[in-house]
Amino acid sequence: MKKVFLFLTAAMLGISAYAQDATVLIHDGGTGVQIPKEIYGQFSEHLGRCIYGGLWVGKDSKVPNIDGYRKDVFEALKELKVPVMRWPGGCFADDYHWRDGIGPLETRARISNNNWGGTMEDNSFGTHEFLNLCEMLGIEPYISGNVGSGSVEEMAEWVEYMTSDSQSTIANQRRANGREEPWKVKYFGIGNEAWGCGGNMTPQYYSDTYRRYATYLRNYSGNRLYKIASGASDYDYDWTEVLMKAIGNQMSGVSLHYYTCMTWTGSKGAATIFDDANYYDVLSKTLEVEPVLKRHIAIMDSYDPDNRIGLLLDEWGTWFDEEPGTVRGHLYQQNTLRDAIVAALNFNIFHKYTRRLKMANIAQVVNVLQAMILTNDTEMVLTPTYHVFKMYNVHQDAEFLDSDVQTTSVKANRGGEVPAVSATASRKDGVLNFDLVNTDLKASKKVLVKFDRDSVKSVTGASILTSADVHDFNNFGATANKVSEKEFKNYKVTKDGVEVTLPPCSIVAISMK
Ligand code: AHR
Repeated sequence: MKKVFLFLTAAMLGISAYAQDATVLIHDGGTGVQIPKEIYGQFSEHLGRCIYGGLWVGKDSKVPNIDGYRKDVFEALKELKVPVMRWPGGCFADDYHWRDGIGPLETRARISNNNWGGTMEDNSFGTHEFLNLCEMLGIEPYISGNVGSGSVEEMAEWVEYMTSDSQSTIANQRRANGREEPWKVKYFGIGNEAWGCGGNMTPQYYSDTYRRYATYLRNYSGNRLYKIASGASDYDYDWTEVLMKAIGNQMSGVSLHYYTCMTWTGSKGAATIFDDANYYDVLSKTLEVEPVLKRHIAIMDSYDPDNRIGLLLDEWGTWFDEEPGTVRGHLYQQNTLRDAIVAALNFNIFHKYTRRLKMANIAQVVNVLQAMILTNDTEMVLTPTYHVFKMYNVHQDAEFLDSDVQTTSVKANRGGEVPAVSATASRKDGVLNFDLVNTDLKASKKVLVKFDRDSVKSVTGASILTSADVHDFNNFGATANKVSEKEFKNYKVTKDGVEVTLPPCSIVAISMK
């Protein structure tokens, strides 16, 4: 009784009785900006067990498969609604000669994968296998072409092989290899990391090289290429500046790579063993993508005020030390609740910049770096990061809704502030979806979510991703579902908005109408 009386008094005074730790104000009037589904893109490279043992086991494998594609992984990716996938690299792309990977299996070239541990590559997964996979899963393919060690002619003929409907010798070679109709290939990257493994070029030299390659990549049979220049890494603003000036009028998009990696010279830290200070340092590093995006975008704005050229963050994610006992150079790492928080924080940032940011591809889809899926010979595990992608896929092609967050923050040792609460929101088909992240390791956070137009009244669904310990991860066997999406009930709709209590280290997704 007493409680009711207090509530009425507060209500009569026009104040909320809810003692929140953070407030999120969602501007539900709308922005008119769509979040491109490609922000939820994947990256698959011939690296470690991403392709072999991950996506592909071959038709004769004992592992259940669909035409050679690993069945469990295939089905998990279908669930994820992957919009776009980049292939065959990465660094591997500038060592890749597409003709090695077509035709009868027994005639395919065997090569050493010199970038990634010198592993033998038998090219049993090539152009047909990749493009057919994309077609079966409704994924837009993103091909990364070889500038570093390939020729203009080789790249031009690859495009013709994939997309031409003519009776040319090359198109007929595709037919002879079992594919009558050309595929549709929209995204084509002209090189990868041209400043490093893609040829160690200067930006000016790369720009001149880009012009030659781009000239001969034709639009065949109604296919229209979206040509992507190999862009900067991290804080290399000069690279973006030179490219925008020199070849801005010749490209559809330019890439950017930003990894949540604590150092490129020594130990990067373990994926599963870390202290509190390292946790906040990793989050601070991941949040730094925001000022990095802002600066690259500001440069692009100054050369392209009409916003014609897209920025594509085609490699991002956590990069820790390889798991002990795994093959050096295969970049296999576990994936904890910390990785899930990283993924959610990144999406909360990416959504804000989609006027310019048109794609993001996490590295990588299976068994490499911040993977969605881990496999062994017989089992598959969905990582905490997979669950974030799944919870967030409601934002694909939805209208972005701006929000203001009032929250406390923690100072990271490396510098930078980590806000306790982060949020994002969008609307699609009349449903408003928002996500809240509590980065605090120890404390729950009471959040009051308000809407400035009061356009939604009731919750239609709510789920949470969290676990007892931030170090928790999903492993083969009994703990495969330790960190997984669950129904969430700890919210209340009031006249002021929605009161949500977020447990420590949690991600909550709420849908409202
Ligand atoms: O994703 C692993 C590697 O990281 C890619 O091959 C390369 O482009 C980047 O340096």
